Amino acid sequence: MTPDRAPATPSSSASPVHTQLHAWLVALDLPDDQVAGLAGLLDATELAAANRFAFEADRRRHIVAHAALRDILSRYTGIPLEALAFESGPQGKPFLAEGLSPVPPSFNLAHGGELALVGVAAAGDVGVDIELRRPIPDLDALARRVLSAAEQDQLASLCAGDRLDGFLAAWTRKEAVVKAIGVGLQLPLDAFDVRLDPSGAAELLAMRAPEGQGRWWCVAFRPDRGYHAAVAVRGAVVSGWRVVRWEGPGKPSSVDGVDMTLAAG
Ligand SMILES: CC(C)(COP(=O)(O)OP(=O)(O)OC[C@H]1O[C@@H](n2cnc3c(N)ncnc32)[C@H](O)[C@@H]1OP(=O)(O)O)[C@@H](O)C(=O)NCCC(=O)NCCS
Repeated sequence: MTPDRAPATPSSSASPVHTQLHAWLVALDLPDDQVAGLAGLLDATELAAANRFAFEADRRRHIVAHAALRDILSRYTGIPLEALAFESGPQGKPFLAEGLSPVPPSFNLAHGGELALVGVAAAGDVGVDIELRRPIPDLDALARRVLSAAEQDQLASLCAGDRLDGFLAAWTRKEAVVKAIGVGLQLPLDAFDVRLDPSGAAELLAMRAPEGQGRWWCVAFRPDRGYHAAVAVRGAVVSGWRVVRWEGPGKPSSVDGVDMTLAAG
């Protein structure tokens, strides 16, 4: 596999960079006037993508998520948010355009219901996922399709009342891993195993695919009981992480006063 882009610190480095990980939660359903203002921060490509949605609610959420992404990355890079530009890897993973920032942060975005999640780290390959918790009619059949044998065994060991959360825990953790790598579905989903205990620690238990090799760090959290969220980082040592709520462009956040370079000792 060709990685989407060489990470700031290659995964094979003998002494990987230590980083903090910030997981930004973005509430997407904002009032009309705010959405209109945020739309003015997007470039033509982002607006065109928003306008491709059939439903107005999805169009608005896309605008808010991408305006928030610009604002968040602007805080780490010091680049005005309108001046940020994006490129994408062969399978579509977005990254900051080459040459914009001497030390570009690694990031990834996911949407789930009324929330978006943006993971940011100083180094490594970041992948995130967030899913709205809702009933899945044919859970067992879906689990057989997308979970590895080891994950299916873990799911089967849960009591019936925990299976939906177990499945969503596995789903978000697996998707965070494939998004960190940047390959999407090119990576067979049975080529790696995650820990899926919904109340336990997230962990990549085994990686059998050559393109998935490297040092991995994973975390899972519940933004509220209605959601499952996960973050995976490959190729950096994550020495601390925190959830941050995005309050609007330039608005204070709980990371204000924290070293926005994210690099830790
Ligand atoms: C994009 C992809 C990686 C995830 O898509 P998704 O679940 O529909 O969407 P998410 O909300 O999680 O993420 C979408 C964002 O990921 C980013 N993205 C796009 N392609 C990406 C890629 N190859 N790698 C990482 N991130 C990617 C983009 O920022 C995108 O946001 P945008 O559409 O607003 O520009 C999808 O193409 C894919 O291949 N997913 C594999 C998913 C899967 O089968 N999971 C099952 C786990 S059990």
